[in-house]
Amino acid sequence: MQVGIDVVEVDRIKKNMGNPKFLERILTPQEIEVCNYSPQRIAGRWAAKEAIYKVCSEELDPFNWQHIEILNHKNGKPYVQFTKDDLSIKCGKIEISISHEKSVAVAVAIRF
Ligand SMILES: CC(C)(COP(=O)(O)OP(=O)(O)OC[C@H]1O[C@@H](n2cnc3c(N)ncnc32)[C@H](O)[C@@H]1OP(=O)(O)O)[C@@H](O)C(=O)NCCC(=O)NCCS
Repeated sequence: MQVGIDVVEVDRIKKNMGNPKFLERILTPQEIEVCNYSPQRIAGRWAAKEAIYKVCSEELDPFNWQHIEILNHKNGKPYVQFTKDDLSIKCGKIEISISHEKSVAVAVAIRF
């Protein structure tokens, strides 16, 4: 089992959101819909993807934000799916947890 963590300042995300290409680069179309332009939720996704990279660096190299998609179950619990088929097999089961406050977001990933 491996654990990865990442923390992100929401301000950094807010600044980048000024660039229209930013969201399209780091989020899938479904994630953009789910985040609804909330800088905190976007920061949470950013942190989660970085945390996942920490437990799956070799497999995700070269890193492409679009290859990881983080959605929510009906009860709000986040889950990871890979948009590139072989990555699900290579990385195996990954669980994540996300938390955000006004100015900071944090995420943890566990690779089983
Ligand atoms: C789920 C819950 C714990 C989230 O806590 P919060 O302080 O409001 O919000 P946080 O910033 O810490 O976490 C938000 C993230 O939690 C995750 N989350 C939401 N519901 C979840 C659930 N049921 N299980 C696991 N993770 C969940 C999501 O990833 C969410 O971020 P996202 O929507 O951008 O993806 C809270 O909304 C809740 O329902 N609590 C139950 C109330 C309660 O009984 N609390 C007392 C126990 S301490």
